[in-house]
Amino acid sequence: MRIFSGIQPTGRKHLGNYIGAIRQYVEGQDRGEAIYCIVDLHATTVAYEPAELRRFTYDTAAILLAAGLDPERCIFFRQGDVPEHPELCWLLASVTAWGDLNRMHQFKEKSAQQRELVSAGLFFYPVLQAADVLAYRADEVPVGDDQRQHVELMRDIAERFNARFGAGENVLVVPEHRIPEVGARIMDLQDPTARMSTTASSEQGALYILDERDVVASKIGSAVTDSGTEVRRGPDKPGISNLIEILSVVRGVEPERIEDEFDGQGYGAFKRTVAEAVVEYLAPTRERYAEIREDEDELERVLAAGTEKAHSIASETLADVREVMGVGPRRR
Ligand code: TYM
Repeated sequence: MRIFSGIQPTGRKHLGNYIGAIRQYVEGQDRGEAIYCIVDLHATTVAYEPAELRRFTYDTAAILLAAGLDPERCIFFRQGDVPEHPELCWLLASVTAWGDLNRMHQFKEKSAQQRELVSAGLFFYPVLQAADVLAYRADEVPVGDDQRQHVELMRDIAERFNARFGAGENVLVVPEHRIPEVGARIMDLQDPTARMSTTASSEQGALYILDERDVVASKIGSAVTDSGTEVRRGPDKPGISNLIEILSVVRGVEPERIEDEFDGQGYGAFKRTVAEAVVEYLAPTRERYAEIREDEDELERVLAAGTEKAHSIASETLADVREVMGVGPRRR
């Protein structure tokens, strides 16, 4: 079983990224052949600073390594170092419907946020994402809930490609998403009706993986809760539901167990428990981060070793894709 996922080197990574995605990446290393990629090319689809992109790439690489990615047990690399990704993106464009891209929620949201330019890159973002996964013929894609539609699209693209060019063979693998049952959509602490996000959340609304202990505690302490006093989930209680889900993941127990435990206790005691648990949950990653981040040469060595392995897989897929599409000379 082959697992692939990607993460953007944009801004600071938050608890939503950790719970929805990064924790699954770490587990994936025990379940199959895991391939993870920092998607720097995707980060160029919105306004950005070139110098910051490099810095954020190192930050993100160091966070993933600190969280437990082990380059001996997974393939870990930077998207822009493997030219098969943009090449396959272009080739897959031939079986991607313009209308489908136009229906992508994330394109609509992100294009509305752009002040100067809605780039064609932003429109093409999901095709490059499809190429990321399909280049490795991955079976499974661990992501948070917001990526559901992008994974659906890559499935459609793979199916259409096989139908159009496969001549009865599955040249590309149709991947499945792996979205966690609990924690797939961590909400903003100040506005629990919106997803926690690097771009849209306020400083207090997003809990960053590298936030200091007291900052974590104070952000959770001042998280918006709902009217009433009961610690239980429900559509009328988005704030408390979010904190219950967070504690459930952090402790590795069912949300019902949390509701039972805090039955009759009120919000104060509950929030203090969540704060302490999250501080302990993130502490090992934060503590390991500083040392890993310091050594950029070593980070480059790790990424270069990953690139070599990634390239050898992706180049085989591309040779097959070019062959069946009639692009380039016939293979002997
Ligand atoms: P990115 O960097 O925006 O997000 C990385 C991962 O974090 C998840 N996530 C969340 N999970 C739970 N709650 C939240 N509030 C939350 N916010 C973000 C995202 O679902 C994602 O899994 N398009 C991808 C990057 C990508 C990719 C790929 C993913 C590029 N190519 C190929 C999978 C396969 C993204 O948005 O990353």
